[in-house]
Amino acid sequence: MSLPSDFTWGFATAAYQVEGATEQDGRGPSIWDTFCAIPGKIADKTDGSVACDSYNRTAEDIALLKSLGAKCYRFSLSWCRIIPLGGRNDPINQAGIDHYVKFVDDLLAADIVPFITLLHWDVPDALDKRYGGLLNRKEFPLDFENYARLVFKSIPKCKNWITFNEPFCSSVLGYSTGYFAPGHTSDRKKSAVGDSSREPWIVGHNLLVAHGRAVKVYREEFKPKDKGQIGITLNGDYAYPWDPEDPEDVEAANRKIEFAISWFADPVYFGKYPDSMRKQLGDRLPEFTPEEEALVKGSNDFYGMNHYTADYVKHGTGTPAPEDFLGNLTTHSTDKHGNCIGPETQSFWLRPNPEGFRLLINWLSKRYGYPDIYVTENGTSIKGENDLSPEDILNDQFRVDYFRTYVHAMAKAVSEDGCKVKGYMAWSLMDNFEWAEGYETRFGCTYVDYKNGQKRTAKASGKELKKIFDEVLEKN
Ligand code: NOJ
Repeated sequence: MSLPSDFTWGFATAAYQVEGATEQDGRGPSIWDTFCAIPGKIADKTDGSVACDSYNRTAEDIALLKSLGAKCYRFSLSWCRIIPLGGRNDPINQAGIDHYVKFVDDLLAADIVPFITLLHWDVPDALDKRYGGLLNRKEFPLDFENYARLVFKSIPKCKNWITFNEPFCSSVLGYSTGYFAPGHTSDRKKSAVGDSSREPWIVGHNLLVAHGRAVKVYREEFKPKDKGQIGITLNGDYAYPWDPEDPEDVEAANRKIEFAISWFADPVYFGKYPDSMRKQLGDRLPEFTPEEEALVKGSNDFYGMNHYTADYVKHGTGTPAPEDFLGNLTTHSTDKHGNCIGPETQSFWLRPNPEGFRLLINWLSKRYGYPDIYVTENGTSIKGENDLSPEDILNDQFRVDYFRTYVHAMAKAVSEDGCKVKGYMAWSLMDNFEWAEGYETRFGCTYVDYKNGQKRTAKASGKELKKIFDEVLEKN
């Protein structure tokens, strides 16, 4: 088991989760600022207005990355720092651009390779109010293209780009369960698209087209010969059949991965939605126009993989509800024989299962023709971590074990199964604003003492990651 010596590894964060400074230097509000202000939406009634104050602590964060041995860093840009109102006819905020240009320069000076996510969920609020944001098939892709062009032009030194983070979550959690901004639920009475339960698939479609537009701009106007790569980051769990002897559960497990991942990856690699989704959803799933298909098909230079957990899947009986986004099935933490996926964590959806990581890397590689894969997120929370003393938080053996077993599973997928994973970014560089869970859930490899000057202290996991990679990286 090994990884090639040119394999890159590091850490990941996202703007709204770490930057804070939401009213500094001309930044406009995003849908997350608005959403956090709605009572009951965030578990501990917090928001990202201060977070880890990373906007004002870039030197400290870079020094931290360096001290942990990171070779690369994935972070996202705040669109509403760059174009506060978001749209193609709206004013540009030079202070926002200058901030990120300097950040990239400083990372490169520290020998850390930047991976930039253009949008990690914090859509400019003005676009949501102006035309329905992600729901608008005509306007949203054009505004995103305009923003992407401005960014590519302004930050030519970055060679690794991710258009969107986890479009599944933007679509389903933002427009069906209401767990994420902008908080639409499938039973809303009024919807700009008529039937509110159709919203997630419309949003997903618009994100795919916007991704395709940004990729075209990058490839045609900015991508240097021989270097420069762009892709989309998709989330997805591995799915095991609840009863491996039941062909319907076996089929449902595969269908679950298609509904979560192939929803986006099939259009990107094949130019069409999976048959299983079309069969269940019919015209709830939009059709690609020939122009849209041409934009989306072939639009990944690499596959960005966010991965955390696995599930057991039991097939559904009866007709699925119109808003069913899972694929007519139920998910379980134990199988028919009582075997459990893995231990509980602070996050209700996350139980470690490293073998599932290897299996999913193989599943993706087979289906999509062995693309280059970058693991753009992988990590864990720990049950009750926030209630421990700072000393005990630093001794996060559970997270150390998580990383070691997951990195080993990935190394096997590369050296024994022939998959082409090229890089790995741990989630997260530091504790941060965990969306609807607020600050109660910690995912950091670094402890952030929010109450005492935002002090960052590396946890055991942060220090151990370099050792874990040193053990598996081939020496050249
Ligand atoms: C995926 C998201 O991209 C990230 O923002 C989030 O904090 C982690 N998962 C952990 O839930």
